[in-house]
Amino acid sequence: MSAQNKIKRIGVPEIRARKGGEPLVCLTAYDAPMARLLDPHCDILLVGDSLGMVVHGLDSTIGVTLDMMILHGKAVMRAAKQALVVIDLPFGSYEKSPQQAFESASRALAETGAQAVKIESGVYAAETIRFLTERGIPVMGHVGLRPQAALNEGGFKAKGRDDAERERVFREAREADAAGAFAIVIEGVAEEIARQITAEIAAPTIGIGASAACDGQILVTQDMLGLFDWTPKFVRRYAQLSGVVEDAVKAYGADVKSRAFPAAAETYSFKPKNG
Ligand code: KIV
Repeated sequence: MSAQNKIKRIGVPEIRARKGGEPLVCLTAYDAPMARLLDPHCDILLVGDSLGMVVHGLDSTIGVTLDMMILHGKAVMRAAKQALVVIDLPFGSYEKSPQQAFESASRALAETGAQAVKIESGVYAAETIRFLTERGIPVMGHVGLRPQAALNEGGFKAKGRDDAERERVFREAREADAAGAFAIVIEGVAEEIARQITAEIAAPTIGIGASAACDGQILVTQDMLGLFDWTPKFVRRYAQLSGVVEDAVKAYGADVKSRAFPAAAETYSFKPKNG
């Protein structure tokens, strides 16, 4: 590839500069083939710890390890050329101390080549965000509904339904912003809360189940592609791929059973079929 054709990757300053401008398009990615398809259309690809549920069939994100995140991060980075790639730090890999977070984050960035990490940022995490950003690690915050806190909170519940909770979400966002987060995911809050936070803080906000009143949006890719029977209520399905996969598998099964395949030697080639 000539230097002229080289694709330039979106960086943290460009994401920050989108505050109040054209909304940021963000999706999750966990593997190379999907990252290749999403990359040209997204500003940010998040290797989310939701991969525990989406890819590994876990009930929650609690069992996800840093090694799992790094393995999937490497796969995404082999395919993503222009989007900013963010790696989620999983439960247990950053909460103990800023030093523990630095060790996990620096490993995640050095081993995958990704550009930033995300941490679920309860108020206590501000010190960690500051520690990381001062040492050159870009951090995305995540406030409101924090899936890693689900054990304590009895599941995934929208946040900000009473005054104390509301105040807590505002504090989480303000403190992550003041500590230097370059963008902040806001999950599962009412439109009015998302709007006020977005107006108040300097970092772009990225909503998930938090209305259009944010500086961008993120969804779990497999949810919006309709790969599961169940998706959260706030997710719009842009395709219904589970049906497409089922039909394809049924057609393949029928071909196998009726022996409807070309003879082997004539077709056994790895030359690309479609150009
Ligand atoms: O883990 C994840 O995928 C996430 C987002 C959906 C924001 O945290």
